[in-house]
Amino acid sequence: MLYSEKVLDHFTNPRNVGEIADADGVGEVGNAKCGDIMRMYLKIEGDVITDVKFKTFGCGAAIATSSMATELIKGSTISEALQLSNKAVVEALDGLPTSKIHCSVLAEQAIKSALSDYYTRQGIDPEPIVGCIADCEACHEH
Ligand code: FES
Repeated sequence: MLYSEKVLDHFTNPRNVGEIADADGVGEVGNAKCGDIMRMYLKIEGDVITDVKFKTFGCGAAIATSSMATELIKGSTISEALQLSNKAVVEALDGLPTSKIHCSVLAEQAIKSALSDYYTRQGIDPEPIVGCIADCEACHEH
């Protein structure tokens, strides 16, 4: 079996799909390898992510990883969300085929991009907090 049951579940029944009209942060990232796009909406109160929604023009693995990632960060603090790696999301899904690992990067980056937007809207420089969100090979080689 190529995909785990959890991947198939999150692909066929993705959680948190949609938009948040009055989001506190919106992030959009593209996957350099396939051209797929992911948009992430965050609602933030204090330092807690109270709601999250995503929209993607992406493959099944991108949908499943985003669905799982949104489940993992909903209700967590900003710093917990920033620590969520694509590896942790893949593990939570019981793995992905190697050729699909790059798809999971999209969700992680979209969360970081949305948090950057959140800080930027408040006049805070996001880079020292959120770090680099560019999809460069060097960042994902380890
Ligand atoms: Fe593009 Fe998976 S092939 S995100």
